[in-house]
Amino acid sequence: MHEVAVLLRDVWKSYKFGVEIVNVLKNVNAVFMRGEVIGIHGPSGSGKTTLLKIIAGLERPDRGEVIVCGYNLNLLDEVGLSMIRNSIVSYIPQDYGLIDSLTVFENVELPLLIAGVDKLSRLRRVSEVIKYIGLNGKEWLRPTRLSGGERQRVAIARALVTTPSVLLADEPTANLDWNNAIKVMELFKDIKKDFNTTIVIVTHDPRILEFVDRSLTMFEGTLKEITPKTY
Ligand SMILES: Nc1ncnc2c1ncn2[C@@H]1O[C@H](COP(=O)(O)OP(=O)(O)O)[C@@H](O)[C@H]1O
Ligand SMILES: [Mg+2]
Repeated sequence: MHEVAVLLRDVWKSYKFGVEIVNVLKNVNAVFMRGEVIGIHGPSGSGKTTLLKIIAGLERPDRGEVIVCGYNLNLLDEVGLSMIRNSIVSYIPQDYGLIDSLTVFENVELPLLIAGVDKLSRLRRVSEVIKYIGLNGKEWLRPTRLSGGERQRVAIARALVTTPSVLLADEPTANLDWNNAIKVMELFKDIKKDFNTTIVIVTHDPRILEFVDRSLTMFEGTLKEITPKTY
């Protein structure tokens, strides 16, 4: 069965620059299926981060529908959106968004604390995810003591800890050398295989598209399919 994970219909977004209004997303339409790894390639400023934030419920579109795992985000208030962000969709920011004053364990634990999960369940789940991601032994280090590749893995672990159906990764390889970039992309493939997660990766590096199931391009706010898949 092919289950739709993300549906974008006629999505528009603009920002104001003084008196000027700039359209950042223009009539974006897309369907991402459960368990697909999607690559969105486009130059800097083309609207990739804005698109991910809209799917994550971190930004609202001016117009159009965003449906994630059956939830129409337009119909949710801020509490509803934060519930979605804590259970269904996880966004990994480009700069990882780790808190340097917390340990690796505490960083990964944070979404569960916010979700009100009890201490024993948190301990179990965080340990499990840290092991899965291959960071055991580094739980009590602070992110500043880790390499770029390890920091990216912590950010992925923190995103995975809530068992999301949709994982959104913003330029996950931008700060890594090619060997570490390959490792991160292999990890995304494993996550898809093990948890049937839909993974949307935005990148300005076309080489990353080798590792995805389906590629799209973003140019000046318009999304286009490069390798359409027939279902
Ligand atoms: N919060 C914001 N306020 C104003 N302009 C923004 C904001 N976020 C993004 N933009 C503008 O929208 C355009 C697209 O940005 P972004 O989605 O970050 O593109 P990309 O991730 O492809 O580099 C850019 O011109 C950027 O300056
Ligand atoms: Mg960006």
